[in-house]
Amino acid sequence: MTFNKINAEILAEIKSALGDEKVFTDAESLDQYSHDETEDLRYQPEVVVKPTSPEEVSSLLKICNNHHIPVTPRGGGTGLSGAALPIYGGISLSMEKFKSIISIDTENLQATVEPGVITEDFINAVAENGLLYPVDPSSKGSCFIGGNVAHGSGGPRVVKYGTIREYILNLEVVLPNGEIIWTGANTLKYASGYNLTQLMIGSEGTLGVVTKIVTKLLPKPSQSVLMMGSFSTNEAACAAVSAIFRAGVTPSALEFMERKGVEWVIQFDDIKFDLKDDVAALLMIEFDGDDLDDIFKNCEKTNIVLEQHHCTEVLFADTAQQKEELWRMRRTMAESVKSNSVYKEEDTVVPRAALPKLINGIKEIGSKYGFESVCYGHAGDGNLHVNIIKAGMSDEDWKDKLKFGITEIFELTTALGGTLSGEHGIGLVQKEFMPIKYSEIHLNLMRGIKNVFDPNGILNPGKIMPD
Ligand code: LAC
Ligand code: ZN
Repeated sequence: MTFNKINAEILAEIKSALGDEKVFTDAESLDQYSHDETEDLRYQPEVVVKPTSPEEVSSLLKICNNHHIPVTPRGGGTGLSGAALPIYGGISLSMEKFKSIISIDTENLQATVEPGVITEDFINAVAENGLLYPVDPSSKGSCFIGGNVAHGSGGPRVVKYGTIREYILNLEVVLPNGEIIWTGANTLKYASGYNLTQLMIGSEGTLGVVTKIVTKLLPKPSQSVLMMGSFSTNEAACAAVSAIFRAGVTPSALEFMERKGVEWVIQFDDIKFDLKDDVAALLMIEFDGDDLDDIFKNCEKTNIVLEQHHCTEVLFADTAQQKEELWRMRRTMAESVKSNSVYKEEDTVVPRAALPKLINGIKEIGSKYGFESVCYGHAGDGNLHVNIIKAGMSDEDWKDKLKFGITEIFELTTALGGTLSGEHGIGLVQKEFMPIKYSEIHLNLMRGIKNVFDPNGILNPGKIMPD
């Protein structure tokens, strides 16, 4: 792919359309927008632009489309697949000024929000109205809801409430040629042609730039109980997961954590948790609702399943403080792994009953290639975050051989009926693995869709599709 560079004339055109104060070329800005949370990858944009309205995004895209300048949209910069990295230079289009919660419609249980709102701020704002927006990825304190739309984000509560796909009703989108559309309707049902809203969700900023988001909301449950089950093998913990659902209960979270991740997070984040010597893995199981008796009945059913699956100990978090501490342990795991080792993160997802085979297979592949792994994640969804740890692997093997190990992990995932990513997206770092799961016919359909939206290929080039 070849693009034009942003010369003085084009820069002047952008500045005159948006105003000098929204266009940044200083070294500090270029550096700040050259990375997200993906490993240690760095790609500098030529210019950072921070528009404040859909019309300004439209003007910018028209200019860039005319001059064939690449534009990479960016949310909170917390992505783990490199989707916000401006790998061809050009513009880093930061949506950070789109900060307004435009309305919370308590009659229809809907909200309209701008993409630069921090997810947790939105969750808190609707909670003040007694409402629940359940999409809460671990990065909720710093990610943007627009970035969540772009990645089809999940988080711990997906197991009961579904991903962001279940909550987005309608999107205002600026297309690469600068035209502005709404993708759907503010309705709970939609049978009116191709569903462009769902197409836009998870498209990682390659089809359009989202400028307004209409979400569905739910009544906020008033009670929750958190259980923690200990297991002496990963396999036993993973086997218990699907059995819990078969017993007829649906937790509001069902998270798996491998011992090493727990050890690191205790150390890194000063978490108070008594990790017994014989524990190889933990399952964190939450039930929510309004009726505590119902919740406890579900806990009892779950307890029986846990016993049948060789669970060695079950703890209940009673106080809000205990629950908060355990959730902090789970949510900071990604950061603690990152701070402890050179690592690469995968986001495998399989039908949940296949989890024992997945985790055993990952360990076998690790032994073959000489890497360790720390696994944790949303077991209730069959979504396992696999953190590959460099450990004893040589620099050469890490650089040249690791990709064969990762290929085997994805081949296994595919053979088990799963796919490459459950919630982190494909972006830059997983695109080369797409052909493991998707045929050329499938990929060409995706390329065709991209071409309809963005015939000049200026929007977030070099992402999702293998080169
Ligand atoms: C988590 C992020 C890494 O589950 O998805 O913590
Ligand atoms: Zn996750």
